[in-house]
Amino acid sequence: MRYSRIAGTGGYLPERVLTNADLARMVDTTDEWIVDRTGVRKRHIAAEGETTCDLAEHASRRALEAAGVGPGDIDLVVVGTATPDMIFPSTACLLQERLDIHDGPAFDLQAVCTGFLYALDIADKFIRTGSADRALVVGAETFSRIVDWTDRSTCVLFGDGAGAVVIEAAEVPGIVSTHLHADGRYQSLLNVPSGVSRRCDGAGSGYIQMAGSEVFRAAVKALDRIVDETLAANRLAKTDIDWLVPHQANTRIIAATAKKLDLPMSRVVLTVEDHANTSAASVPLALDCAVRDGRIRRGELLLLEAFGGGFTWGSALVRY
Ligand code: COA
Repeated sequence: MRYSRIAGTGGYLPERVLTNADLARMVDTTDEWIVDRTGVRKRHIAAEGETTCDLAEHASRRALEAAGVGPGDIDLVVVGTATPDMIFPSTACLLQERLDIHDGPAFDLQAVCTGFLYALDIADKFIRTGSADRALVVGAETFSRIVDWTDRSTCVLFGDGAGAVVIEAAEVPGIVSTHLHADGRYQSLLNVPSGVSRRCDGAGSGYIQMAGSEVFRAAVKALDRIVDETLAANRLAKTDIDWLVPHQANTRIIAATAKKLDLPMSRVVLTVEDHANTSAASVPLALDCAVRDGRIRRGELLLLEAFGGGFTWGSALVRY
């Protein structure tokens, strides 16, 4: 059997930091409210002119270096993003050019906050079926560009960043299993309603619209189910999981998933405090942080999960 494994990780956050105190000067909010309801203390914001591809490039170079491979070794590029640089070409094609990777397939994947898990699933399948040997899988976003900075109910939640992994063919499973879901019936609860075909149909429609408490409840329920599904599919007990690497939307949502797994928060990789919700970038960024600071070690079993607009949600069980 042929499988894929994670060979290296990378992450990148733009230099500019926006704290809760900064936000309290922009909208009617307080540091206390934001920390209490979300866990977020600060977020990074892309500079004027700095794009999703710029962030993806930094994260990718770090992942390639960590994997000990060069651009010529990559035969597939998949970028999970809901904030591409252009309508087309895809951010993956722009990234391919920056990194001097040529010829292999490159495409973007749009599943909002679940984008990285969708991208990882697809890349894993390319490798398992022999269509690729080594893939660069990226989650990169500039959500600051689709946030309404006058709307206190959403602007406190998001930040910019990118995370990347290099995955390569292996004889034993690194990506053990992936589980993806979507249900478009919930599209109205979390969206940016403008687009190419629909165009802008009113003021503010180029910005995130969210029914916060409904999204919160749906996320907790969906992630609860995906934990059961992932454990059952692999005949595992909760105690087999070494680390939870969750999507970083809200500490309370993450704590509910940790409770479901009977995992202490010391076994949960938390970056929401410093990064806020970076959508598709949040899971690979969290993974990279915990790999680089030595918490996650080779051989450990990781449960990655995410939930986002669509709704989309998913998980990956990874033997690191
Ligand atoms: N500062 C101060 N008050 C705020 C505020 C802010 N930044 N944002 C909202 N409020 C107010 C609301 O206006 C409301 O006031 P009211 O009771 O007078 O109407 C009150 O706080 C409670 O709002 P509510 O939306 O019920 O709060 P909540 O406990 O549900 O928390 C979220 C709001 C957004 C933090 C929470 O719902 C959430 O995290 N949802 C999921 C978001 C998410 O994960 N999205 C991405 C999925 S990938």
